[in-house]
Amino acid sequence: MRFEFDPNVYQLTRQNIADLDRPIELIPGDYTVVLDRLDLPTHDALIVFVAPPWGTALDEVEGLDLRRTEPPITDIIARMAHAYPDRRMLFAIQVYEKVNVDSMAELKSKVDWSTVKTYDLNVRGRNHGILLGTRGWRP
Ligand SMILES: C[S@@+](CC[C@H](N)C(=O)[O-])C[C@H]1O[C@@H](n2cnc3c(N)ncnc32)[C@H](O)[C@@H]1O
Repeated sequence: MRFEFDPNVYQLTRQNIADLDRPIELIPGDYTVVLDRLDLPTHDALIVFVAPPWGTALDEVEGLDLRRTEPPITDIIARMAHAYPDRRMLFAIQVYEKVNVDSMAELKSKVDWSTVKTYDLNVRGRNHGILLGTRGWRP
């Protein structure tokens, strides 16, 4: 699916980042294109936040299918690993309380270590969480 850049979202994100008062550069665009242009210092470890639109990937019975978000979370992890094979990476991935079992297995095959933390903010079964995964190191 082709990525459509939303200037309103960009403005909101820009304001949020400004409030943090940290040296963060916001680069708008399709992540696949931006990834090709990035020239990151050779030895830096990377922290990658992954929260793509879920689209139709969420099924209340099967859970969130990490292969069917738009773009697929599994593709994002694979692309990052391919672009930066020698870096230590920490992925922080927004997930749902229930995750499709096969898609979780596929994701786990792309990382060296992972854990999931679900936040108890909603009714049981409908909470969001963070899946942490690493490549090139283990905590
Ligand atoms: C669920 S929102 C996450 C928002 C984010 N957590 C934040 O606080 O700004 C999904 C975001 O992914 C962006 N997105 C979708 N496809 C993308 C792509 N191919 N490359 C870069 N961003 C993309 C959308 O524009 C949207 O802003």
